[in-house]
Amino acid sequence: MIRYPVDADVASARVLDPAFYADPAAWAAVRERVFARSWQWLDDLGAVAERGSLAPRALLPGLLDEPLLLARDGEGALRCLSNVCTHRGNVLVHADCAADAIRCRYHARRFDLAGRVLSSPGFEGLPGFPAPSDDLPQAQLRTWAGLAFAALDPAESWDATFGDAVRATSALPLDALVRDPKRDRDFEVRAHWALYVENFLEGFHVPYVHPELAKEIVLPDYRVETFAGSVLQVAHAKPGRPAFAPQACGGERGVAALYWWIFPNLMLNFYPWGLSLNHVQPLGAERTRVVYRGYAWDAAHAQGGAGGALDTVEEEDEAIVEAVQRGVRSRLYRAGRYSARHERGVHHFHRLLAAALGEQA
Ligand code: FES
Ligand SMILES: [Fe+2]
Repeated sequence: MIRYPVDADVASARVLDPAFYADPAAWAAVRERVFARSWQWLDDLGAVAERGSLAPRALLPGLLDEPLLLARDGEGALRCLSNVCTHRGNVLVHADCAADAIRCRYHARRFDLAGRVLSSPGFEGLPGFPAPSDDLPQAQLRTWAGLAFAALDPAESWDATFGDAVRATSALPLDALVRDPKRDRDFEVRAHWALYVENFLEGFHVPYVHPELAKEIVLPDYRVETFAGSVLQVAHAKPGRPAFAPQACGGERGVAALYWWIFPNLMLNFYPWGLSLNHVQPLGAERTRVVYRGYAWDAAHAQGGAGGALDTVEEEDEAIVEAVQRGVRSRLYRAGRYSARHERGVHHFHRLLAAALGEQA
C-alpha cells in the first residue's frame, strides 16, 4: 500500500512528503484511484445543442484519454457514449457533426444515437447477435451551468463531489452564461499537477506573488471553506471595485470572486462578469496542461477587478509553481508545516489525496 499520510490536525501536520511528486507508483495510483474514478469536465454543451448532434471528447486528455461521445438524439436526449466500436475497437467519430446514426468506418457497423446496434454487415444470422453487450457502453453524465461532466466509475456520487458548489451558486444566473472564446487559453506548466492545485488553494501568496491582484481585494477578509469534495475561497473587493450583487452571494456584500475547486482538478472561478473555468490536466510528473474556458454573463464587467488581468495572474502562478517543482526535487528539502490560518484548503486537498493513496494517518 502506497502511503503519503497527512495528519488530520492542520496545526501539527506536515505537508505532503516531497517524494510524492516524483514517485512513479504514486503517479499510477493517483491515475487509477483518483482520476479514473472522478468526475471530469468534458466541455460545454455548445456542440450538442441541436437534436441529432455528436461531439467526440476525450475524458481527461493526456492522462486517461478515454474516447467518449456526447450524443443528442432526435428526441433531444443527451447521452455520453463510448466512442469505441464494440466490434474490434475502432474509434468511431472524429469531429463534431450532425447525424442520425453512428457508422464505424472500419467494417460499417451502425449504431443509433442511444448507442444501440442498428446493423452490422457480415454478422447476419450470427447466433445471439446483437446482444446488449454489442451496444455502446455509456459513461455517467451530468450537466450543470451549461457544462458537461462525465465519470466512468466514480468513487463518489455527483452530489457528494459537486453538490456543495451547486447549492452555493444557485443564486448566480448560471443559465445565462455564454461562451466567450476570447478567454480560451491552454497553458503548459513545467510542474506536477498537484503543485498547481496546491497553489490555487491558498490566497496566502497573493500579496507576495500577485501585487496587482492584491490591490483589488481586501486581504484580511479572504476566506477559505472546506467541503467534502471541494474547497471555496472568497475574495472581497476594495470599495468601488467590481463586486457581485449581495443577493447573488447569500446576502454577502462586496464579493469580488468565488473560487471553487472541485476534487481533484477543476477550478470554477466566478467573477462579476461570469465564469473562468480551469481544467488541470496531468501530462507527466513535471508537465501539466491547464485549459482555460471563459463564460460571460455580463460583458459590461469584463475588465477590471479580481477577475480582470487573469493572464498576468496565471503567469505569476506558473513561475512560482515551476520554482516549487525545482524545489521539491531538492535532497535537502523536508516537508514543511501548514499555516493553519491560510492553508486549510491545501491541507484538505492533501488529506483527500492521502486517503486515496492508502490508509489515512
Ligand atoms: S471495428 Fe467497427 S465495425 Fe469493425
Ligand atoms: Fe496565485
